[in-house]
Amino acid sequence: IKHLRSAADLDAATATLILDTAGEMAALSGREVKKLPALRGRTVVNLFYEDSTRTRISFEAAAKRLSADVINFSAKGSSVSKGESLKDTALTLQAMGADAVVIRHSASGAPHRLANWVDGSVVNAGDGTHEHPTQALLDAYTMRSRLGRLDGLKVAIVGDVLHSRVARSNVLLLTTLGAQVTLVGPPTLIPLDVAAALAEKTQVSYDLDAVLPDSDVVMMLRVQTERMQDSYFPSAREYSRRYGLDVARMKKLPEHAIVMHPGPMNRGMEIAPEVADSPRSTIVEQVANGVSVRMAVLYLLLGGK
Ligand code: CP
Repeated sequence: IKHLRSAADLDAATATLILDTAGEMAALSGREVKKLPALRGRTVVNLFYEDSTRTRISFEAAAKRLSADVINFSAKGSSVSKGESLKDTALTLQAMGADAVVIRHSASGAPHRLANWVDGSVVNAGDGTHEHPTQALLDAYTMRSRLGRLDGLKVAIVGDVLHSRVARSNVLLLTTLGAQVTLVGPPTLIPLDVAAALAEKTQVSYDLDAVLPDSDVVMMLRVQTERMQDSYFPSAREYSRRYGLDVARMKKLPEHAIVMHPGPMNRGMEIAPEVADSPRSTIVEQVANGVSVRMAVLYLLLGGK
């Protein structure tokens, strides 16, 4: 494939190749091979119109470990503030010879538009409420390395499904790889049209306590208050009581089950601090795996040697 705009771009064989390649990248890093020459002479542009900590830094680290030249573009402080369009920004980057553009944008579909204007590969690093495919890949990688398989794995994705690009990409990727996904949250955050659109691929439940005992993975989503109207989210205390993962709820999980969160977290809202920092939590591991997975994505898209 040339671009990674959606987890739907990946069939099972391609997704598995990315996860296996990420495993090889991680093994090399574990053997103290800090830098590979694979993308020497290639240029990767990180084009971030929305804030990011994990994704932006790990794409930069991934590209540098593959010896690519990296240009970091942040909308803040650029000519975007003077009204320059995404198209004109893209054409400027194209003129500077970008081999890959990694884009985060508040508008759903921005990576698809960008792919019409640049010759290089486009990687979606999160577009609005639409998708975040490399997050889904690093989540799948983490599940496979912790639990040994994805096929048949029971994964509960919990919380603000409505606004979550992470949930959407995970549903697409995990079901492609044979996992059984259940979406859990209040009806206001899994409205009927969203549930119907995802119904062919997933189950939906409004009762977290009922789902936990039969889950191998529980993935807590950030409550995205910045994207919400009051009607979606009446009270933080009520939300936390019904859908927050605290220590008592975590004990309902099977012994082997893991707790995930893509970050950034609202500690004390969707996840209790004791749960986030517990041995069952893979939150820090997910961040570390993100570098290997993004190395694999850049390597495979750019035909690294
Ligand atoms: N998980 C994730 O996308 O985090 P950032 O917003 O910090 O990149």
